[in-house]
Amino acid sequence: MVADIKILVCVGLAVVLSGVGQSAFIGKSHSGGKDDPVLQYVVNNSLREHPVLTKLRLRTLEDSWNVMMVASEQAQLMANLIKLINGTKAIEIGMYTGYNALSMALAMPENGRVVACEIEDTYVNIAKPFFKEAGVENKIDVQHQIAMKTLNDLIAAGEVGTYDFVFIDADKSNYDNYYEKSLELIRTGGIIAIDNVLWSGRVVNPAPTDLTSQALDTLNKKLHKDQRIDLSMLTVGDGLTIAIKR
Ligand SMILES: C[S@@+](CC[C@H](N)C(=O)[O-])C[C@H]1O[C@@H](n2cnc3c(N)ncnc32)[C@H](O)[C@@H]1O
Ligand SMILES: *[C@@H]1O[C@H](CO)[C@@H](O)[C@H](O)[C@H]1NC(C)=O
Ligand SMILES: *[C@@H]1O[C@H](CO)[C@@H](O)[C@H](O)[C@H]1NC(C)=O
Repeated sequence: MVADIKILVCVGLAVVLSGVGQSAFIGKSHSGGKDDPVLQYVVNNSLREHPVLTKLRLRTLEDSWNVMMVASEQAQLMANLIKLINGTKAIEIGMYTGYNALSMALAMPENGRVVACEIEDTYVNIAKPFFKEAGVENKIDVQHQIAMKTLNDLIAAGEVGTYDFVFIDADKSNYDNYYEKSLELIRTGGIIAIDNVLWSGRVVNPAPTDLTSQALDTLNKKLHKDQRIDLSMLTVGDGLTIAIKR
């Protein structure tokens, strides 16, 4: 019950802050899009959530920062993209309680590996038992340190051009740096997925004082012109850019 109220507050906040009118509603469902019948319909008629993912989602809803959790239908989209490109090597920059890291690991064959970057002990400790319960703890390498250090370590270890998929979902001020490092680590035809690119709609004419929205808007405009990738900007969740390395 308490968790449900939080979702409504968070989604409501996203609508209020969007400032771009009703038609541009940016949905984000953690549990079926309770206040948006179309989003609810999407989830009701397409979500196939592994039982351990359901348990992890419900556990995460008890955390006060649960608005950070990836939307279930967005995680499923990324899992399907990984299957589509036969991905076996992924990186998640910003794991939180592990919903998407677990979803990616479940989408991969036995030899699949997810490098999951997370700085906060609390979140790592919530995530790990669920990875074990789903039987994929051997597929998820939790790097419990600053994400930029992990990316530099992977580059130094000779892993340039070997990753199939990267999900960028940590501190927004570093997004451009994460994107550049990811482009190095990803193979041709690999995918970099970037979360929160619409930032509840605030990227549209961001206020001069709103540095996060400005940074995201600048990155969005950079990617639009970036000839190293093909791209699509999707309105799923809080906005998701799919960049495919040429
Ligand atoms: C939006 S949440 C990630 C949600 C997650 N992808 C999911 O599937 O639910 C962002 C996470 O990035 C972590 N984070 C922020 N800055 C970081 C950094 N510099 N290095 C590693 N993790 C960081 C935060 O602690 C937080 O858990
Ligand atoms: C979605 O499923 C829930 C739970 O079964 C139901 O209450 C709701 O009416 C459904 N909404 C739509 C639009 O299908
Ligand atoms: C993925 O693997 C399957 C089965 O091994 C193969 O048939 C398919 O062509 C591969 N697809 C890509 C995009 O590599």
